Amino acid sequence: MARSKIVITGGAGFIGSHLADALALESDLVVVDNLSAGKRANLTQATRAGATVVKRDLLRGDLGSIFRRADVVYHFAANPDVRLGRAGTKPSIDENVIVTHRVLEACRAAKVPQVVFPSTSTVYGEASVVPTPEDYGPLEPISVYGATKLASEALLSAYAHTFGISAVIFRLANVVGARSGHGVVVDLVRKLARDPKRLEIIGSDPGTAKSYVHVDDVVAGIRAGVQATTGPVAVYNIGSEDAITVRSIADAICHELGLSDVAYAWTGGAGGGRGWAGDVRVMQLAIERLERTGWRPRRTSEEAVRAAARDAWSSIRKPSGP
Ligand SMILES: NC(=O)c1ccc[n+]([C@@H]2O[C@H](COP(=O)([O-])OP(=O)(O)OC[C@H]3O[C@@H](n4cnc5c(N)ncnc54)[C@H](O)[C@@H]3O)[C@@H](O)[C@H]2O)c1
Repeated sequence: MARSKIVITGGAGFIGSHLADALALESDLVVVDNLSAGKRANLTQATRAGATVVKRDLLRGDLGSIFRRADVVYHFAANPDVRLGRAGTKPSIDENVIVTHRVLEACRAAKVPQVVFPSTSTVYGEASVVPTPEDYGPLEPISVYGATKLASEALLSAYAHTFGISAVIFRLANVVGARSGHGVVVDLVRKLARDPKRLEIIGSDPGTAKSYVHVDDVVAGIRAGVQATTGPVAVYNIGSEDAITVRSIADAICHELGLSDVAYAWTGGAGGGRGWAGDVRVMQLAIERLERTGWRPRRTSEEAVRAAARDAWSSIRKPSGP
C-alpha cells in the first residue's frame, strides 16, 4: 500500500515536532513552519526518518503547492500565547484565525480529505462544570487566544459540512514536555537557573489550579482520536486526570531540581489567583470520550510537570541549537 502524505503546519514547534517524530516513521511527511518560534533542531529525528521541512510563512503567498496530494493536514501553526503581548490582539487574530482560514482554503482547493486541529481548554472560559465535557456550553472564552481557537473550530466545522473536509478537533489542557518554549514550567525553570534562591511567580498564592498533560500523552491521544473518527466533525478533550496549583508546580520543580529554601515572590497578578487578564482560574477536562478509544494519560499533572522540568533544565544546560 502507498504511504500517505501528511503535512504538519507549525511542525517545528513544541507539540508539532513530537507529532512529526511519530508520523515521519510511517508516512511521507512535510513540515511547514516559518521558524518564528519553531526550530530546525526540533526536527532532527523526523528528518532522519525522511521528513521534509519547508520554511514558509502561512500568512503570505499562495499555499497551493504545499497541500497538493496531502491525505491529512495537521494544522498546528499558531500563536499559542494566552497572554497578550505589546502588539495587542492582532498577532493572535492573524496567526490563529487568518492563518487557519488560509490553510482551510488551500486544503479545499487541493481537495485534502481531513484536517486535524489542536484547540484548547480555554474555549470553555470559566466553566461551571469541572471536569468540563466536550458538550459543555455556552462556550464563553475569557481570552482573545481562546476566542481565536473557538473561531477556528467554527471554521473547521463549516468547511467540514460545506466542503466535505473532515475535521478532528482536540481541546488540549496545558501541554508540557521537552522542546516547550513557553508556559509556567519553562518560565519557573528559567528563573531558577538564573537565581536558585528567589523565585518570582506570576499571580497570587496558590495561583490557578489546572490540568497539565505531558506531550507524549497528547501525541498518543491525537493518534487514537484520529484513528477512531469517522464523522465530518469530532471534538475530543485531552488532559490529565487531575489538576495542580501553581504553588504545587513551583514546589515540584524546586524538589525536582534539588533546590530548597527558595523564597517565592508572588507578583499579585490579575486577581483571584489569575496571572493575567484572560487567565482561567480552574481548569480540568473530562476525558472519557477519548478514553473510550482505549487511550489513557500515563502521567498525572504533577508527574508531567516534573518530567517537563527535568527536560527544561537539561536544555538550559545543553542548548539544542537553532
Ligand atoms: N502548548 C499548549 O499547552 C497548547 C495547548 C492547547 C493548544 N495548543 C495549540 O497547539 C499548537 C502548537 O502549540 P505549541 O505549544 O507547540 O506552540 P509552538 O509555538 O511551539 O508551535 C507553533 C509553531 O507554529 C509556527 N508558526 C507560527 N506562526 C506561523 C506562520 N504564520 N507560518 C508558519 N508557521 C508558523 C511557529 O514557528 C511554531 O513552530 C498551537 O495551535 C496551539 O495553539 C497548545
